Amino acid sequence: MNIVITGATGFVGQALCQYWHEQGHTLMVVSRQPDKAHATIGVPVMARAAAVDFVDQSVDAIVNLAGEPIFNRRWSEDQKKKLIASRLKATRDVGELCQRLEQPPKRLISGSAMGYYGDQGSREVTEQTPPHDEFAHRLCREWEEAAQQLATDQMQVACIRIGLVLDRDGGMLKPMRPMFRLGVGGRLGKGQQYMPWVHRHDLVRIIDFLLNHEEIQGAWNAGAPAPVTNAEFTRTLAASLNRPAPFVMPGRVVSLALGEMSQLLLTGARMLPARLEAAGFRFEYPTLEKALTTIEHRAA
Ligand SMILES: NC(=O)c1ccc[n+]([C@@H]2O[C@H](COP(=O)([O-])OP(=O)(O)OC[C@H]3O[C@@H](n4cnc5c(N)ncnc54)[C@H](OP(=O)(O)O)[C@@H]3O)[C@@H](O)[C@H]2O)c1
Repeated sequence: MNIVITGATGFVGQALCQYWHEQGHTLMVVSRQPDKAHATIGVPVMARAAAVDFVDQSVDAIVNLAGEPIFNRRWSEDQKKKLIASRLKATRDVGELCQRLEQPPKRLISGSAMGYYGDQGSREVTEQTPPHDEFAHRLCREWEEAAQQLATDQMQVACIRIGLVLDRDGGMLKPMRPMFRLGVGGRLGKGQQYMPWVHRHDLVRIIDFLLNHEEIQGAWNAGAPAPVTNAEFTRTLAASLNRPAPFVMPGRVVSLALGEMSQLLLTGARMLPARLEAAGFRFEYPTLEKALTTIEHRAA
């Protein structure tokens, strides 16, 4: 297939491009630095600065992952605007491409996150669970709405509510592993908050599943079937490294240090991939222990 990918140079996009390159797909990537995209991604891709620049190509599907990193800097009002605006701009650019193509693609798989649900305490969260209103929810809602507006009779739009993506050398494990290796890791606050997670390889397989599944319209929870609390995550990560994790970072210290962004660490959702499982998707990494042990084994 001919697939346009925004955010292809990122942590998820790189793995997706490598997976699809091996399957023989033609990859057209959108990057703010198209000259560097090939080197970053590591497999042959056609790179251009905007999705609409691919209007001269035949496009079967689009994956839309681009956006300012959520955890880069404190959420000032300006930064919050940037987080939303970067995602809306990338999504509208994809919309312009779809409108201008003679034959629009059949499917768009667009990003979102577990933050869509906001703070849900310990209740189980499926795609049907009403969200809690907070900044992370508004960000994801606007991103999803912009993507869903592009759905037509010819093109289905799936929004993937991605959990914390785990793998080596990127995502949340990048800053955490060195600390835990030194034995100075620990839980955050009471540790009861849920952390939906997904192994990067399973996330790539989920996107591939949606590329090939017949009915994909709407929202899909893209997290492993066994989300864990922060305390459990801390214990399992420490065990995978054979280190203790004796410390506790009090919630008020995290709040003082990070401001509103601390919600991402101190609250969460016990998000379950209800729709994916009902559709027959099977996770290669269903438990955190298997995911982290494999990541450490490969790192050794
Ligand atoms: N990683 C996770 O744990 C996680 C969890 C939930 C949701 N997500 C979402 O899933 C998507 C992919 O995640 P990821 O970890 O692969 O992200 P990432 O590594 O931060 O990469 C995202 C890509 O977006 C582009 N980008 C960055 N800032 C931008 C800006 N201000 N304006 C336009 N484009 C910008 C960059 O591509 P160029 O520099 O080539 O333009 C970058 O490679 C993200 O939107 C993220 O919010 C990720």
